[in-house]
Amino acid sequence: MSARVTLDGRVVVVTGAGNGIGRAHATTLAARGASVVVNDLGGTVDGSGSSGAAEQVVAEIRAAGGAAVASTDSVATAAGGADLVGRAIDTYGRLDAVIHNAGILRDRTLAKMSDEDVSAVLDVHLAGAFHVLRPAWPHLVAQGYGRIVLTSSSSGLFGNFGQANYGAAKTGLIGLMNVLALEGARRGILVNAIAPTAATRMTENLLGELTDRFDPQHVAAVATFLASEQCQLNRHILTVGGGRVGRIFLGVTPGWYGGPTPASPDDILDAVDEICRLDDFIVPDSGADEVTLIQRVLGGPSGPSA
Ligand code: NAI
Repeated sequence: MSARVTLDGRVVVVTGAGNGIGRAHATTLAARGASVVVNDLGGTVDGSGSSGAAEQVVAEIRAAGGAAVASTDSVATAAGGADLVGRAIDTYGRLDAVIHNAGILRDRTLAKMSDEDVSAVLDVHLAGAFHVLRPAWPHLVAQGYGRIVLTSSSSGLFGNFGQANYGAAKTGLIGLMNVLALEGARRGILVNAIAPTAATRMTENLLGELTDRFDPQHVAAVATFLASEQCQLNRHILTVGGGRVGRIFLGVTPGWYGGPTPASPDDILDAVDEICRLDDFIVPDSGADEVTLIQRVLGGPSGPSA
């Protein structure tokens, strides 16, 4: 069967594409017809140093007959993000999709975490998304089309010991996705996120006996789909690893209603189990949807009693 997910004629920026998951994204996108800007400063897992990782991936893509150009800009600065987007425009004259994948780790418990451990991680993952997307956005808006894929993590969405900096950054990206998805929808820009699990240098010795099953290629298939015109999803978080793909979502329950008179802290103590019950949750499409839910619980204008 011929390929139905195609990126022919599309230009995609992939940050952190010199290694691991980003490298798999870049080679897969190129194999599907995209011209890829392979961005990577080529540092170690903690973000120090530099190497020719991006150039190596570009050489690999070209050897396979694909189109790619390297960028060694750091996404941790606004200037780096602007240069990276400029590289796409200068080289290929357009930009269609951004996959923000670059990442570093500075794992410590909060008690041992330095200011630098916090800022370095937030700068690459979270501020890095702003640094790349702010200069990219006007190009996407002008052409009325764009795809953005952010890289979140179960570490933030569900928690992981010793990763307060990383977890906060990765969940911050979900806030960014939620808002950009609303701002971009009427401009043809769709914004989604992945929460991957893959065998890379970042997860060395963490995946145990099944390490070999966690080929980054499993993740690249999902990201390539999300970066394509064929993807119509917006504001979704897809979790992918080892060949399994699922959806992570934020839901909210109708909860407990204590009546129009403000409840006391003691009322909350008494109601805490009911407040935390997971029955009848909904998955809002925006913050406004939760307001609608509250109105319904209160029997307000959009509620069943209206
Ligand atoms: P990796 O360490 O192999 O790749 C990350 C790449 O980002 C590296 O090549 C690095 O040089 C690059 N990078 C770091 N700082 C940069 C900067 N300032 N500017 C440009 N490039 C920079 O790690 P892996 O596993 O491939 O991770 C890719 C993404 O997936 C990261 O965002 C990571 O947090 C995320 N992730 C990975 C998981 C896994 O199981 N491997 C789990 C959850 C999330």
